[in-house]
Amino acid sequence: MASQKSRILVIGGTGYIGKFIVSASARAGNPTFVLVREGTAAADPAKAKLVEDFKASGVTVVHGDLNDHRSLVNAIKEVDVVISTVGGLQLGDQIKIIAAIKEAGNVKRFLPSEFGNDVDRSHVVEPANSIFAIKAQIRRAIEAENIPYTYVVSHFFAGYFLPSIGQAGAVSPPTDKFTILGDGNAKVVFNYEEDIGTYTIKAVDDPRTLNKILYLRPAANIYSHNELISLWERKTGKKFERTYVSEEEFLKQIQEAPLPLNIVLAIHHSAFVKGDHTNFEIEESFGVEATQLYPDVKYTTVDEYLNRFL
Ligand SMILES: NC(=O)c1ccc[n+]([C@@H]2O[C@H](COP(=O)([O-])OP(=O)(O)OC[C@H]3O[C@@H](n4cnc5c(N)ncnc54)[C@H](OP(=O)(O)O)[C@@H]3O)[C@@H](O)[C@H]2O)c1
Repeated sequence: MASQKSRILVIGGTGYIGKFIVSASARAGNPTFVLVREGTAAADPAKAKLVEDFKASGVTVVHGDLNDHRSLVNAIKEVDVVISTVGGLQLGDQIKIIAAIKEAGNVKRFLPSEFGNDVDRSHVVEPANSIFAIKAQIRRAIEAENIPYTYVVSHFFAGYFLPSIGQAGAVSPPTDKFTILGDGNAKVVFNYEEDIGTYTIKAVDDPRTLNKILYLRPAANIYSHNELISLWERKTGKKFERTYVSEEEFLKQIQEAPLPLNIVLAIHHSAFVKGDHTNFEIEESFGVEATQLYPDVKYTTVDEYLNRFL
């Protein structure tokens, strides 16, 4: 029997979050296409292997480039849904995907590269503010062209923010002491990348997510930094010293930090000090929450995820 599932094209599928979206699409049984640049496999053996793994799982690899309009239109004509997971440097170039979607004329849903904060509801300082502003401009361009959309607000990637137990600028758990931004009580959301893929694919042809923001706020994955540290203390059986940095002092540190650390710190400030992941209600006029729409998904909790660092 022919598949009734939406045909999905991922642009940026060889990227960090993109590979999880491609895998989730294939796993869900959607005919899956991934746009890969000609030189990608030759430039990076890990990406060459990833592309081979995609093919082995039934994914169709099409060659193309954001800067090759014809390649975009041809790839888009084959599908119902376009998901962009391009990286920070290509966010503005998504205007070219919008132009190609308009020309192709067949797309039922476009999910631009978001996968972070709600950029229309964040209190983020520079230099991250300029990046968020580009994502917001892409939203406005999609809306102006009347392209059906879903914006996936997935909050923090577990793999980026949990190995350090939320410690800004670190890549592994501290050994004796935590530095906490602000009072450490703002509620922050952490999601496992595989779950972000699963929820994203569930949303692509769901009428409830049409022209809405899909927020991933699983109840078990919302922690203040203080709570996250307490959880880590329970797991390790160790007590850690806690030092608090005032917002004023942290803003100074952001200004003085080099690129790209200053971007990372500004994003920490938005979530851990301003509470931008959770400081507003999701209203039905603009948004829906993933675990409410898809209670059947058994997501990985922060508690479970942290066990891998013990
Ligand atoms: N919430 C969080 O914690 C978090 C963390 C990081 C990122 N993000 C967000 O997630 C999204 C994706 O970021 P990422 O870090 O996963 O991206 P990434 O790893 O930098 O991947 C970028 C992808 O875009 C592709 N690409 C680059 N230039 C292209 C071109 N000219 N034509 C076609 N494809 C091109 C790359 O292909 P090649 O493989 O050929 O280079 C790659 O597949 C962004 O919106 C970012 O802000 C969120």
